[in-house]
Parts: sequence; C-alpha cells; structure tokens
Amino acid sequence: MSSAVLVGTQWGDEGKGKICDLVAPEFDCVVRYQGGNNAGHTIVCGDKKFGLHLVPSGIMYENVTPVIGNGVVVDPKVLIEEIDMLENEGVSTKNLKVSGNAHIIMPYHRDLDGAFEECLGKNNIGTTKRGIGPCYQDKMARIGLRMQDLLDEGIFRERCGIALDRINPQLEKLFNLPTYTVDQLWDEFSAYAERLRPYICESSLLLNNMLEEGKSILFEGAQATLLDIDHGTYPYVTSSNCTAGGSVTGSGVGMKNIDRVLGIMKAYITRVGMGPMPTELSYDDEFGHKLTEIGGEYGVTTGRRRRCGWFDGPIARYSTRINGLTDIALTKLDVLSAFDTIPVCVAYDCDGVRYTSVPEHQALFAKAKPVYKEVPGWREDITGCRSYEELPQAARDYVDLVEELAGCRVSIIAVGPDREQTIMRSWN
Ligand code: IMP
Repeated sequence: MSSAVLVGTQWGDEGKGKICDLVAPEFDCVVRYQGGNNAGHTIVCGDKKFGLHLVPSGIMYENVTPVIGNGVVVDPKVLIEEIDMLENEGVSTKNLKVSGNAHIIMPYHRDLDGAFEECLGKNNIGTTKRGIGPCYQDKMARIGLRMQDLLDEGIFRERCGIALDRINPQLEKLFNLPTYTVDQLWDEFSAYAERLRPYICESSLLLNNMLEEGKSILFEGAQATLLDIDHGTYPYVTSSNCTAGGSVTGSGVGMKNIDRVLGIMKAYITRVGMGPMPTELSYDDEFGHKLTEIGGEYGVTTGRRRRCGWFDGPIARYSTRINGLTDIALTKLDVLSAFDTIPVCVAYDCDGVRYTSVPEHQALFAKAKPVYKEVPGWREDITGCRSYEELPQAARDYVDLVEELAGCRVSIIAVGPDREQTIMRSWN
C-alpha cells in the first residue's frame, strides 16, 4: 500500500477512529499531524472499547509505528495517562514516537481557553476547553514550549519565563486568575519529562527514512474539513489545519509522497459546538431525535450531545475539492435503516441562488436553505452485508447519490461499529 491521508470531511465525529484502525495494518506507520486531545476516537476491539485522544490509532498493531507529528499540540499529562491506560490493557506503547517540535499544552492554556470562551459570551465557539486554541496562539506568537524543551531544564526555564512574561499579566489583569511561576511549572513538568523522554524524537527524519526504505505512511487527521482554521466555518473552527494539506506541514514529509486521500463521510451529518449547520434537525424533531439516539451521537471527549442533520451534498463536494479526495469511506449507513424515506440535501438556496458546493462567503452559508431530494429508505438490517451487491437496492442508490454529490468514489462503507461490519469496495 502506498501512503495516504485520512481526513474528516464534515464537522468531525465521522467515524475516523474505526476506519483508521481498520486500514492502519496496511501501513508501516500512522502519524497524527494536527490537533490535540480535543479529538476523541473510540476503537472497538473484540469486547474492548478504547477511547483515544492523542495516541494514533496504529498503536493497536505491533508492526505499525505510531507517531505524534510536529503539528500536534500535546498535553503531556493526558499523553502519559493514555500510555498508562494502554499498557494496563496489554497494548504495548514501545514503538510510539513524539515529535520534539510538537508544542506543549501548558496549564495556563487551559485556563485561557475557558476565560476566552466566557469573554465571548453568546458568541462563544463552544471549544472543548482543552487549551488547544491558546496553545496554537502561542506557537504562532513564538512564545510556545515544545516537547524538546522538556529535555533540558535550562531551556525549559528560559522558554517558560519568556511565555509567563506575556501570559501572567493576561491571567491576572484581564481575567483575575491565578498566575504561574517557572519553578512551579518545572516541578510539574520535570516529572513528565522523565516519563516522555524515551518517546521524543526527530519525527520528520524518522518518517523520511521510512519512506526511503520503501515503507508506507498513513497520515491521520483529527477534527475535520469544516473545522479547519482556513477552510472551515470561521470563527467556529478549531485552531489547526485539519484538511489534507496539514498532513505535510504537520509531519515534515514532502507532498510527492502522498498517493491517496481518503475522506471519512458520515451518511448524515453532525456537529458539536456553535456555528451554522444548514441541515440541522432539532432534537425535539422526531427525525433529529432518532438520528441522535440510534447514531449514539454523544461526544467521546466532552460527552456533549451532537447536533444532527441530514446528509449535506454541498459540504461533500466542497470537501472533495479542498482535500483533493481520491476515495470516500461512507460511515454509519446502518443508522439510516430506521427511516422510511431519507431527505438528502442536494444543493443550497441562498437568496434565490442555487449552490451545489459551500458558498464563497460565510454570510451566504449562514442563510443557506437546504434543497432536499427525498429518497426511499430500505428499512432492513444491513449490518451483516459485506459487499455492495448484498446491500438492498435503496441503500445502493443512496451510496450512488453520495458519489454523485461528492464527485468522488465511495471505496469503503461502514455498516456497524465493529471492524468486520465494513464493506471494502475499492480501497485495496
Ligand atoms: P477546540 O478545538 O477545542 O478549540 O474547539 C473548537 C471547535 O471545534 C468547537 O466547536 C469544538 O466542538 C470543535 N471540535 C474540536 N475537536 C473536535 C472533534 O474531535 N470532533 C468534533 N468537533 C470538534
């Protein structure tokens, strides 16, 4: 298998964890390239369920090297907890690598995440409050601390002092919050440094050496296209490039190495946090309620109930363009078995103008009215289907419609949460 990027095509929670875990054994390495522990992946392995936030999905396979790339922001405490949890469950983490260039989420980033949100009042983003935004902010402001700074007390103290000169006045004067000292932070972080030292490496070199040896890499995206800082529904986005382009800057690998881009697309759509969502259904609506409960649409990271809506064709087409998708994995198709008819959004009406992709300006997107095509449901259990041909005709038609709207082939279809509840159509 050649190298590939796996990316979310909607607002996250498309089932990336399952698909990533499924295809990971085909690769020699899985690298996370952005985001942090705002992400949450549930991996179902036999009768065990693992909730991972930072460690790449490839961790479950001994012959796969899992790498946390330079574009990720790492909360060391969370990483250690995840390592301990995996080891206690009998999953070895000895192959795990963490980029020395990955930025560290400091305790004051979490404090500021909460304070900024409060400050925004009704305009809040609905962040996960994990300190993601403030950490990326400091990275860009060039006052961040990186994993490699943990390896040298002198450097840590120097970088930390520079950061605190800017951070403490904000905490104290703007938000009336407790400040931090370098000593206090080194006390806490020196313990993390000792635990994480064996994992920290020059990951770009490691990845490029693997490629030179003819090995393959899966670039694992977190969050999704419409949460991308540049291409998402700004300002209701996360603070990193979740789209396929982020894979190269977030890992230090050249673009020529990427052969395929697999977009994970749920058969309907969900969103957590604030911001526009054209096909949203109210939870009080019969169908909205059904999608939420049958789909189990509650967040892995924060437990928040996700907003649910019908499949959004313009978003699918936009994602194909922004990411250069070569393949789609259509997930949770089985959830739609509960409906007699299924409305599919084929276009938007924005002030009388029809759009088949996301409109150029946010103001238009905010008032986009979905144009629906009602398609027949199939009303039968499809969780046992293992080929496209075994699916009922109405389900096949649904898959074909997704392909037509997205402008990309559907290569994988997920018909249930377990690994084996998957149709491998044209992925390998
Ligand atoms: P942040 O990434 O915590 O700053 O949150 C920014 C926005 O991205 C909020 O709307 C979050 O709910 C959303 N978000 C962040 N991570 C995820 C994810 O993994 N799945 C879905 N939404 C996410």
